[in-house]
Parts: sequence; C-alpha cells; structure tokens
Amino acid sequence: MNKISQLISLLGGTGVVAEKLNIQPSAISNWKKLNKIPNKKHEAILKLSSNLDINIENFFPKKNILNVKDTKVRILLIICGGIACYKSLEIIRLIKKTNIELDVVLTKSAQKFITPLLVTSLNERKCYTDLFSVEDETKMNHIKLARKPNIILVAPATANILAKLANGFADDLASSILLASFSKIILAPSMNPIMWNNLATRENCKKLLDRGVKFIEPDTGDMACGENGTGRFPEPKLIFDIIMGYINKNQTLVNQFKNISILITAGPTIENIDPIRFMSNKSSGKQGFEIASELAKRGAKVTLVTGPVNIPYPNCDNIIKVTTAQEMFDVVTRQLPTDILICSAAVADWKLIPKISSNKNIDINNKIKKNNDNLSFEAVENPDILGTVAKSNLRPKIVVGFSAETNNLKKNAYSKLISKNVDLIIANDVSDNKVFGEDFNKVCLIEKNNCEEWKKQTKKSIAVHLANKINHLLTNFNQ
Ligand SMILES: Cc1cc2nc3c(=O)[nH]c(=O)nc-3n(C[C@H](O)[C@H](O)[C@H](O)COP(=O)(O)O)c2cc1C
Repeated sequence: MNKISQLISLLGGTGVVAEKLNIQPSAISNWKKLNKIPNKKHEAILKLSSNLDINIENFFPKKNILNVKDTKVRILLIICGGIACYKSLEIIRLIKKTNIELDVVLTKSAQKFITPLLVTSLNERKCYTDLFSVEDETKMNHIKLARKPNIILVAPATANILAKLANGFADDLASSILLASFSKIILAPSMNPIMWNNLATRENCKKLLDRGVKFIEPDTGDMACGENGTGRFPEPKLIFDIIMGYINKNQTLVNQFKNISILITAGPTIENIDPIRFMSNKSSGKQGFEIASELAKRGAKVTLVTGPVNIPYPNCDNIIKVTTAQEMFDVVTRQLPTDILICSAAVADWKLIPKISSNKNIDINNKIKKNNDNLSFEAVENPDILGTVAKSNLRPKIVVGFSAETNNLKKNAYSKLISKNVDLIIANDVSDNKVFGEDFNKVCLIEKNNCEEWKKQTKKSIAVHLANKINHLLTNFNQ
C-alpha cells in the first residue's frame, strides 16, 4: 500500500474522503494510483485531518503541515480555585450557545469547588485536569491545548495563577499551557481585596500587562468573605460579552488583507567561509515572524522567506527556508510580483572570501588550515534585496525596510529610505545589544514626510501597529 493510499484509509477511506471533499471517488482512486494529491487539494486534506483530529505529518510533506490556516474560533477556559469558580459554569453555558469550540481545564484547587464531571456534562467534551495524564500525554496534550485556541480565558484567575504566570512557573496543566501558548491570554481575576491590592499581586499584574496579557478587571463591592472592596468576579454575561467583542473585532480584521500577497524576509543569513566557519549576525527572526503571523491572521497571502532561526514558525501560506544572502535574493526575486514586500531580515552585507599572499587558490570545500601564508579575507558585497526590488520594474505597491543602527538612527534610516526607494523604514537602535532575540523593542517609523517614535513594546505589538500602518498606506494607494 503506497503512502497516499494509507493516508486515505486513515481519513476514513475513499468514499468518506470523496464525500467530505465533495469530489468523485474516481479522483481519489487516481490519487492513490499516482501516489500524489494535487496541490490545490492539500489545504482541504489538512482541514479534514484537523477536523478529525488525525495527525498526518508522516504522510504529508512538513512544508504543507505549516500551511494549515483555519478560521474556526477556539477558546480554552481555565477555571482556577477561587470562590467564584461556580460562576464560570454560566460562561460555559453562554459559549456553548455559539459555534465557538470550547475546551475547559480545571486546576486542582478548582476541583475542590466544582467537579470535572459537571464541566464535562455542561460542555459535552472532556474536561482536562491533569498534566501527568498517561492517556492525554500520548498526544502531547498540554502543548496541543496550548496551541489550539485563539483565546485562553482564565476565569476566575486566582492570585496564585497570576503569580505563577508572571514568574514563569509551570507546575500543573493550567500554568504549563499558559507558558506554552501563543494565544491571546485574557485573565478575569477574582480574590479578596487585600490579596488584590497586595504589592506582590500588583507587581504581577503589571508584569503581565506589560507582556500584552489582557485583564477583565474585578468589580468593587461586597465579597463572599464578608469584606468589601475590589476583587469581586464580574458578572459572567459581562465576561462573555467582552470575549465576544474581542472575537468580533478580530473577525473584522480577518479579511483586511484578503487577496493581498505579502512577501516577508526574516532572520539572519549565514555566509559560509569554509565547511566549518561562517559569518552571520544576531538576528533571531522574532520580529519578522510576528509580522508574518499578524498579516496572515488578517487574511493576507503571506510568503515568509527566512534565514536559519531557532524559533517556531508562524502560521502562514508559504515558508521558504534559505541560508545565504544570495539564496534569499534569488528566492525573493522569483516570488515577484507581490503586492507588498517587507524586508525585516538582517541580510549579511558581505561574504568573506579567503586569500593568501602567494596568490594560490584556497580550497574552501575543506577546512582552511592555520599555516596558510598571510591569510586574509576579501569582503565581497552581497546583492541588495531591498534596493534592487524597490527600484525594479516589478516594484511592489508598498515596500517596507528595516534599519538596525548603532548611531545616527533617524538620519541613517532616512538616507536608506531615500537611496533605496522605500515607502517606510522601521528603524531601531541596536547599540545597547538589547534588541536581538528579545521580545521587546523600541522603534522609529520613518517615512518621507513623517517620523514617529513608538514607545517600547513587544515585537508582537509592533507587528500589530505596522499592520495597521500598512493597511492605511494600501488604502491610500488604492484611492
Ligand atoms: C474557600 C476558599 C476560597 C478561595 N477563594 C479564592 C479566591 O476567590 N481568589 C483567590 O485568588 N484565591 C482563593 N482561594 C485560595 C486558592 O484556592 C489557592 O490560592 C489555590 O492555591 C489556588 O490554586 P489555583 O490557582 O491552582 O487554582 C480560596 C481558597 C479557599 C479555601
């Protein structure tokens, strides 16, 4: 049995797959015969496997697995052990009336107040409680639960979970999921007013706010403990409405860049000197990946061309991995035309060619030995991706560049904008070495007649603001 035949039988057989994909069974028989699925059907197969919760990674090329894009809204509700946790049952009931997919996790303390059986009955789905579940962890459940949802709502969020998340503890299922997630985290804290106002809790909340975690603030009034103050759990309907408002706002963004193709470069490039040595830079790829992820979420057809990085790939249409500046140049120019080009990659400006004084050639396919006469390196300039594309006949409607500078930030970035014919430059000061690999950055946005200094914020937040700015430019362009 060939691979595609195995895959089809895993998905329920020829008849089932034909029905689900609304095509003739003979077409599926043909795929099996050819041991190949046509490209245009890849996404449908991936969606079907995802709906059936079947992992088809072994049957489908890895590249396509990265391409899964679905728009179904999924929420993970984490209920912690606060006195108000029974009120979260009402949130489950309200979410159940929508077509949102809901999973629920109960902490150990929450189970002192409400039971997994009660939650399972209400939600009509398994309620998750245990990090060390042999049954669930065969599928790496804690990572799956962390990655699946668009939103993780923690309600009620105890002082304990705030402290754990703020300080990176992961000693149970709830806290491990929160640490392993890229999803939007929304916390609805509820606790005794003294606990809420305690400096430790205040500091934890501040840390979390700075990291982009959203809070639904507790109410003020009489508490179950008999005291009065701030810490009451807000009405479940209000929490539900806030969540729905957040989802609706994001849903309108989903089509913002529909039918717009965006080519993004990210990460460093590596220039080999010999089979062992290379020249590169400290770029982590984080900013470019956040931009790719944000624009893909807003409906753009994103192609990400990335140098070698050590971070997870974002969910976008196409990811092309390259190593050298020349490869990145070749791939980018092959991907043209595109509507928008964003060059966030830190492309090595030169490659180093070893030379010796006796004019003998050095064999760079083997390790260069120390005993060479007067070994030196000639710096040969790499192609300029940004400038070449921005000045070409195939210039995209909008071209965005990045400029990492150690001095004269705005002046240097402005010269780059003009000399390379770019629409806007995101400039950052890398002189203190605190940008590469970090989650926060402070940048300036530079246009021909405009310069904005953005406050220090997460790279995710910079991606959101940049996406808004590009949308604005695109609207002007199309008018
Ligand atoms: C009756 C009772 C009510 C509690 N209510 C709250 C509360 O409303 N908010 C809170 O932060 N902690 C509350 N606690 C303390 C938490 O249950 C405790 O900090 C626990 O470790 C939280 O665990 P979790 O965050 O894993 O759910 C309460 C404890 C008890 C015994």
